[in-house]
Amino acid sequence: MLAGEYGAGVAKSLELLVALGDVFGAEKLVPVEGAHVSGVSYKNLGDAGLEWLEDQAKMGARAKVRATLNPTGMDMARWREMDVPEKFAVGQLRVIRAFETLGIEPTCTCTPYLVGHVPRFGAQIAWAESSAICYSNSVIGARTNRESGPTTIASAITGLTPLYEYRLDENRLPGKLVEVEAKLSDPLDYSALGYVTGKMVGTTVPYFRGLGKPGLESLKTLGAALATSGGVALWHGEGVTPEAEKIKPHLKEVEKVMVTENDLKQAREKFTCEVADPVTCIGCPHCSIHEVGEVAKLCKGKELAKKLWVFTSRGVYAEAERKGYVGQIEEAGGRVYVDTCMVVAPLKEMGWKEVALNSFKGAQYSVNMGLKTRMGTAAGLVKEALK
Ligand code: F3S
Repeated sequence: MLAGEYGAGVAKSLELLVALGDVFGAEKLVPVEGAHVSGVSYKNLGDAGLEWLEDQAKMGARAKVRATLNPTGMDMARWREMDVPEKFAVGQLRVIRAFETLGIEPTCTCTPYLVGHVPRFGAQIAWAESSAICYSNSVIGARTNRESGPTTIASAITGLTPLYEYRLDENRLPGKLVEVEAKLSDPLDYSALGYVTGKMVGTTVPYFRGLGKPGLESLKTLGAALATSGGVALWHGEGVTPEAEKIKPHLKEVEKVMVTENDLKQAREKFTCEVADPVTCIGCPHCSIHEVGEVAKLCKGKELAKKLWVFTSRGVYAEAERKGYVGQIEEAGGRVYVDTCMVVAPLKEMGWKEVALNSFKGAQYSVNMGLKTRMGTAAGLVKEALK
């Protein structure tokens, strides 16, 4: 491959992976079963990123393992209605075309595991998108590092990745024991727990005790927040995640920290300020069918006084439409958008100033963009937005 026998695109991709492996002292390359590619929004890529992608596509290389795509900067069909500027949309559409030429599926979601891209336990994969990395490593037990857009494209094209870090047993052991002394019921509580813990542990692998029985929605939001305030790629939860039992003996060697009710309260307060007319955003990470259904139940037959935007994947949208959820939300005045979210869309250009959300990841990025935030549970925020 390096010698160019499979084309220039393959050679370039492998050069990148070999260099990466050298930096991290990897002994060898191993096959990956799939890739999930981030760095899709034209907002982050700009023209330089777009040209790089188009150059890759022109070189003729194509994905040889299944590869899916993270959210873009807009709903690919309804971007005009979102007030996305035309110039942005033109750039974004070119980005997606380049990815499609490379053989990467335009799933455009940060929850590929909810729409059929589910790795096996123990499988080596190359995933980017910090929340999806946390989910696949921790909840599914697949193996990925915190990959970047270019390295996931390179892995998709070559079917390989350098063997280091979280791909090896010894690096999947816990570095901190986190005792949770707080009541966890709503996904927002798990998001707050992730945010508080991420700050405490940084890039260390946390092992949680006292997680209760989190549902899928709580598991995805916990990981998203852990990867936002910290650099967590993998976590374990006693009685919750598949590797937790086996690694228990190692807990003797690690430091113990505690997260209390008060810690979670303070985290919520940090992102809750006075807002006059926020857009309520539900779907960070992208909504599951259950989450869309909950919002729909609250909106059914009612009218919204404030803007409500729900973000999900195309796969979940199709199911939500069949079940009547999309109609119930949109008849109330809300919108269900696919392919995008409040973080990767060009909100400033769209004139947004305030958001209300149920995700600490979404809140942190919104603050970084200069927006005012208000935190609440999905149900609480939707009720507030109704007339
Ligand atoms: Fe997904 Fe956007 Fe949140 S990519 S995790 S919905 S910031």
